[in-house]
Amino acid sequence: MCDIFVALTFRFSHESCRAVLAFSGLMIRLAWHCNGSYREFDGRGGCDGGRIRFDPEINWPDNANLDKALQLLAPIKEKYGSSLSWGDLIVLAGNTAIESMGFPKLPFCGGRVDDADGSDSLILGPSDAQEELTPCVSIGQQGMCDSPLGPTTMGLIYVNPEGPVSDPDNPVSSGLDIREAFSRMGFNDTETVALVGGGHAFGKAHAACPDPPCGEGAMRGIGKNTFTSGLEGAWTPQPTTWTNLYFQNMLNLEWEIGTGPGGHQQWAPTNSDLDIIMLTTDLALRDDPTYLPISQLFAENITALEEQFAAAWYRLTTADMGPPERCINDKPEEIPPAQWWQQPLPNMMLAIEVDYIGARSKIQALIDEDSNNIAAFANLAHRCAATFRVTDHKGGCNGARIRFAPESEWPENAGTADALATLEAVKDEIPGISYADLIVLAGQTAIETAGGIEMDFCGGRVDATDGLGSMDALAPRYYNDTAQVLLVRDDMQVKGLSAKEGVALFARPKNSDEVLSNEYFVQLLAGEGEYDEYEMALLEEEFLPIVEEFAGDDSKFKVIFRSAWTKMMTADRYDGPVGNVCTDRIDPTLQRDAPVDVEDGEEMVSDVSREGDEGFRSLNSGNPSMRSDLVVGLFLGALTLCLL
Ligand code: HEM
Repeated sequence: MCDIFVALTFRFSHESCRAVLAFSGLMIRLAWHCNGSYREFDGRGGCDGGRIRFDPEINWPDNANLDKALQLLAPIKEKYGSSLSWGDLIVLAGNTAIESMGFPKLPFCGGRVDDADGSDSLILGPSDAQEELTPCVSIGQQGMCDSPLGPTTMGLIYVNPEGPVSDPDNPVSSGLDIREAFSRMGFNDTETVALVGGGHAFGKAHAACPDPPCGEGAMRGIGKNTFTSGLEGAWTPQPTTWTNLYFQNMLNLEWEIGTGPGGHQQWAPTNSDLDIIMLTTDLALRDDPTYLPISQLFAENITALEEQFAAAWYRLTTADMGPPERCINDKPEEIPPAQWWQQPLPNMMLAIEVDYIGARSKIQALIDEDSNNIAAFANLAHRCAATFRVTDHKGGCNGARIRFAPESEWPENAGTADALATLEAVKDEIPGISYADLIVLAGQTAIETAGGIEMDFCGGRVDATDGLGSMDALAPRYYNDTAQVLLVRDDMQVKGLSAKEGVALFARPKNSDEVLSNEYFVQLLAGEGEYDEYEMALLEEEFLPIVEEFAGDDSKFKVIFRSAWTKMMTADRYDGPVGNVCTDRIDPTLQRDAPVDVEDGEEMVSDVSREGDEGFRSLNSGNPSMRSDLVVGLFLGALTLCLL
């Protein structure tokens, strides 16, 4: 019989059960690995989508035995069905596990939407898709994979626990590796030390297998045969209780490298009888000169550690979720306000009714005075919205950060300051209009004047007060020695555009263009005119059929262009995980009674959902009854495994 003594933590006293087995640690590791694939470079990875259930992620060596954690959670998922996503369940399980061991309540942002398969993780590698865009393994760089790849080593989500491939067992080199890997997730040194040391306050590494064969067959990862990383032992003598003993023991004891029972290199204390371990990566938090003072602070002050861990854990689990408007929780008041890494914006000024009709007529006058404003305004709006990434729901024109450095200084944004200066007159004369709305409206007016199909306008954007939210990662991305066609495809994918939408947008008025039509594609096919390398990539096999289709059908092109343009301009107007404020909002900009009819576009304006989404809203995901189900579900799962 097993003796369960803490809600999510199971210590087995029966002789058929291992001495200590903490499923709480497993749940934390599951949540960490699900989220730790996030990379700031392009917003890919992370737990939104719940792709850790599928190949390739579940088969990454680092994710060994996390299928067991998913099995434990399966009954809870079954009970709540589509009202609870796997992504939310995994994060909630991690939170619950941490809280169950004495950590104060953690904030929770629910609303993750499950992917139907793991294909969006192929680009994270190891895979042909990753090799094509960001080669690493095949050219013998294993252990030294460069950004934008998240891990330094393919198959790991972060770094090698035994130290870098090129310099094993060296905590100082390992520290450099850790800094590199965690900065690719967006973390600074304090967040990194808090996360690693706070995480390893719990649970243990698994390699002791008294009854070989280990790590294979039906008993792989179960009970006493659990063999996961090949490293063995807990980091503290109290691995089921929240403490800062990890840091105290790391700094106060002497450590010696040796070979553990799993045949891997790990460290043991030489001046203590405590049965605990450190990995080379752990001792990096002692031997790296910048990490050391942070570790010392956490060893002395558990409150400081607690605050930093809670903040870093929330960022870890929420970085791919976009602004708080996407978060749901049955107690909305418990959703934290926008954090600095969530591009906070001021609240909307509800009191002022903006005269968009007046604004548009003034914009139109500027265009009528100088037709160069068509391309100038279209370019300004396009560049303002071009930061949007569907991968982590960051960026977009809301906030109009294109007015500030660093965005205003990106070479791709040359000329946008002049267009903004032209629009100042309108801003001055229309009370309450935000720069963001003005930019979008100016772009729309320009496109329609150039011959584009009329679009609905949805106002209500607000202005940021500085450019802090324009993280460098939102700048146009560059890859070394990569074919342009791959870059074009990558850009469309990150923005959430279909290939047709992406190709259509290439025809937007540029430079002194005044007309929007399929003539752009006719000329491109004929080789007339000058084109940059990205435009030339449209003639490659992947995009050529679309170019030909547009060249032969102006109406079709314009319908898709309108859909794509509106999608870009409204994609960042979140209303819950999958909703969009602009679905129900049309602000007239012309003097007439009825809004414009929507034609039969291929991709609808407000359709921000992804293929395969279950379209759910996990409204109950933070509620107490579900938390108690987590406890009960894990209890039953643990019991089952224990009795095996
Ligand atoms: C440098 C970064 C890190 C490295 C190299 C690392 C490495 C490892 C390894 C090798 C294991 C043993 C797995 C096994 O054999 O079962 C482990 C377990 C664990 N890690 Fe980490 N880890 C890192 C960061 C983190 C972070 C950031 C967290 C959470 C915030 C975390 C939480 C855990 C937990 C809770 C366990 C215990 C799992 C269990 O009890 O089954 N780790 N880690």
